[in-house]
Amino acid sequence: MNIDKVRELDHRFLFQNYGRQDICFDHGEREFLYDLSGRRFLDLVAGIAVNSLGYSHPAIVRAVCEQAGRLMHVSNLYLIKEQAEAAEALASIAPPPLEASMFCNSGAEANEAALKLAVKATGRGRVVSTRNSFHGRTSMTLSATGQPKYQSGFEPLLPRAFDFIDYGSVEQLKAAVTRDTAAIICEPIQGEGGIIAAGEEFFRTARDLCDERGALFIVDEVQTGMGRTGRWFGFQHYNVVPDIVTLAKALGNGFPIGACLTSRDIAATFKPGMHGTTFGGNPLACTVARTVIETMRREKLVERSAELGDRWAQELRSLSMHGGKITDVRGKGLMIGLEMGEEAKRFQEAALKASILVNVCGGHVIRMVPPLIVSEASVKELNDVLRSFLGA
Ligand SMILES: Cc1ncc(COP(=O)(O)O)c(C=O)c1O
Repeated sequence: MNIDKVRELDHRFLFQNYGRQDICFDHGEREFLYDLSGRRFLDLVAGIAVNSLGYSHPAIVRAVCEQAGRLMHVSNLYLIKEQAEAAEALASIAPPPLEASMFCNSGAEANEAALKLAVKATGRGRVVSTRNSFHGRTSMTLSATGQPKYQSGFEPLLPRAFDFIDYGSVEQLKAAVTRDTAAIICEPIQGEGGIIAAGEEFFRTARDLCDERGALFIVDEVQTGMGRTGRWFGFQHYNVVPDIVTLAKALGNGFPIGACLTSRDIAATFKPGMHGTTFGGNPLACTVARTVIETMRREKLVERSAELGDRWAQELRSLSMHGGKITDVRGKGLMIGLEMGEEAKRFQEAALKASILVNVCGGHVIRMVPPLIVSEASVKELNDVLRSFLGA
């Protein structure tokens, strides 16, 4: 099938709820995607921070094929060996007391579970969230998302009150958390919001306030988790341990899976039947997640994300001195944002012409979240295109 036919079927049979680029991929290998005509693209988007091991990683392909041939799905009515193993693997990368997992199928579902858990555990109804955040598209997570552009037209949002504060504002945080607050939810680095870090003081204050006022601290690691920022979890940059952590995206390297991770004590809030999902934690998804963790360990990809990301950010900073088009280089590890104002869209187009995929987030920030296996040669390829765009 050629791209014209795909476009025709798409327009005829699919909801038009995505602003899609007119490209269609056929297959991928490492950090490269190939379109239907065989053109190669360097992919610095990675399915939006999903494909951390790149495309067609042999360990993942093997795990999927072997497990698919053995057992893909059984109900959570039964003990599931692969689920137990994936949970053990997650506990092995998380700091104590985060050792109890509940699996689901997406980031929104992981946050939905986290919010329900916090409300149930505390018996309180209010949640503090941050402006410019992104937590998902279900009713509850959309209500928690601090961006009117996503909420508009879906009002009234949930009656449960979400109190929004400026991301990073310690003063507003102190004022917002009360004895009615069930939880604070926030990202360590806002991804959709434009690659903006909360800062250690904000995280420390959130931790202290939760302890003091009996609320739970939920950290949304859907985008930042699994080594993206150079640590297994973004919160590890701030030296605090949250009460509840949510994961998805890179946990399955493209196979849909999400997780809500907490202490055994907090997890015990949910009694049998209080929360669940049919597909969540099925043997296939869990085998992939366990294999992702093992492979990342074996290939030292968290360390690579930290080391290569730092080096790349430094190079980008020195490039940004030229031409005045880049006003800031942000991020941690291989989660990099280039603040470019009006120029962001133009650079995205220039990169595409050079067969490089980058993404624009927060309206004016070039987001680069490549596979963590991205090669030095690919980094140089991007830098060269950026250099000529900047006229450096
Ligand atoms: C920080 C964060 N939380 C939650 C979500 C929602 O995840 P999903 O699209 O898998 O529901 C996203 C998706 O981009 C995200 O970046």
